[in-house]
Amino acid sequence: MPNDPAKPFRLAIAGLGTVGAEVARHITSKSSAKSSAKFSGKNSSLHTRANLHLVAVSARDKTKDRGFSMDGIEFHPDPVALAKRDDIDAVVELIGGDGGGVALEVAEAALTAGHHLITANKALLAHHGKHLAETAEAKNLALAGEAAVAGGIPIIKMMKESLAANDIHRITAILNGTCNYILSSMQHQACDFAETLAEAQKLGYAEADPSFDIEGLDAAHKIALLASLAFGTTPNTKDMAVTGITNISLSDMTSLEGHTIRLLAEAERAVDGGVQCRVAPVMLPLEAELAKIDGPLNAVTIKGDPIGAVTIIGPGAGAGATASAVLADIIDVASGHIAGFFGVPAKSLVPAKPPQTNNEEGQHFIRLHVKDKPGVLADITTILRHNRISVASIHQSDSSDNDGVAVNLATHSTAAATMDKAMAAIAQLPVMTADPLMMRIYND
Ligand code: HSE
Repeated sequence: MPNDPAKPFRLAIAGLGTVGAEVARHITSKSSAKSSAKFSGKNSSLHTRANLHLVAVSARDKTKDRGFSMDGIEFHPDPVALAKRDDIDAVVELIGGDGGGVALEVAEAALTAGHHLITANKALLAHHGKHLAETAEAKNLALAGEAAVAGGIPIIKMMKESLAANDIHRITAILNGTCNYILSSMQHQACDFAETLAEAQKLGYAEADPSFDIEGLDAAHKIALLASLAFGTTPNTKDMAVTGITNISLSDMTSLEGHTIRLLAEAERAVDGGVQCRVAPVMLPLEAELAKIDGPLNAVTIKGDPIGAVTIIGPGAGAGATASAVLADIIDVASGHIAGFFGVPAKSLVPAKPPQTNNEEGQHFIRLHVKDKPGVLADITTILRHNRISVASIHQSDSSDNDGVAVNLATHSTAAATMDKAMAAIAQLPVMTADPLMMRIYND
C-alpha cells in the first residue's frame, strides 16, 4: 500500500561514519538554508520522490562537523535508544561491524519497536538476515539492504525483480573494492601491497579495519547474500572456503604470462544440489571481462536460464556509491514498497548444503619459495607425479635471496581436491622457505 506522499517519512540514522554522514547530508539538503557550506548541492531527485524527515541520529561524537546541520535533529549517544523511539517510521543502521554487537541490537530494537529497517551491513544480514527478515515479515515491516552488496550497483533489486524469472546457475563477482583497488594498482602501477593498501585507506575505500576486506571476509558475506537470493538458501559463510589477498606479492602479478589476479567471489549450484560459495584470488586471462575491472569497481556476472549471462559493473565502495543504495532503499520504503530482503518469504529459505566433494577440474598456478640447491625441483615434481598432476609450464627466478628462489608452475587441468592434497605435501617439504601459494587459473 503506497504511503501518503505528503506525509513526512520519519527517519533515524544509527552511525554517522562516511556513509551515514553522506546519507544525512542528502536528506537534509532539502533546504539549502539548513545545509552547511560544505555541502551546497541539493538532491532534488531524492526530495521529489519522498518527503523525508531526519528526526534523530546516533554517533560516537556529537560535536564533529559532518557537513550537515544538526538543527532540529535529536542526538542519541545510545543507538539502541534511538532505534526504540516512538516518533519514527524507519531506522537506518550504518554502524557496520562483524554482524553482531550493537548493530544487531539496533536492528532488533528497531523491528521490535515496529520500525522499518534499512541497513548497509552485509555481516549483519549474512549472519542474522533470516531471523531479522522473519521478524520484519511477521510485522509487515521492510528489511532493506541494497547497500550491503556491491555498493552502488543495484544488484539486490536486479536479482529480486529484474531477474526474478531466471533459474540462476552461477554468480562470479568482484565484490570488494578495496581488494580490487589494491590488485589493479599492483598490476598497472607496479606498487607493492602495503603501499596500495595505505592509498586505499586514504581514499576511503577500505573499512575501518582493513582485515575484513583483505582477508576476503567482506566478499564472503556479500557472496553469501547473493547465493541466498539466487538459490533460496539461508546465507551460509561457515562452509565457505575464503582466501584473501594478503599473500599476493607484486611479482605474482606478472608471474603467469597473459594473466592478472583479481579476488573473485563465486557461488554455484553443484551437481549434487549443494551450493558452493568461495572467495579467492584467481589468475584471470587478460582478455576476460573481470580482468578489466580496475580500481574500486565491483562487477557481478550472473548466469541463468533464460537470460544466459548478464554482467553489471559499478562503484562498489565509497560514501557516494553506498549512500546512493541506502537512499534508494529509503525512497522505496517511504513509498510503501514493503519488501523482504530475500525476494521470497524468509521462512521458505532452506539450509545451503555444501557440495559433498570438490571435483571441479581446472588449471592451477603454484608459486613456491624454495632453497636453491640440487634436487629441489625433483622433490616437487615427485609429489606432482604421485598425484598424477601434469605440469603445463614451470619457471624458476634467476636470483635468490633470503626467501630462496621463486618457482612458478602452471598445471594442466586437475581436480581441486587433488591439488589441495599435493599442496599439503609440498608445504611440508624441508626445502620450502615460505608458505606456498596456489590459485586457480580462470577458464570460463
Ligand atoms: N569495504 C568494502 C569494499 C566496501 O572495499 O568493497 C563496503 O562494503
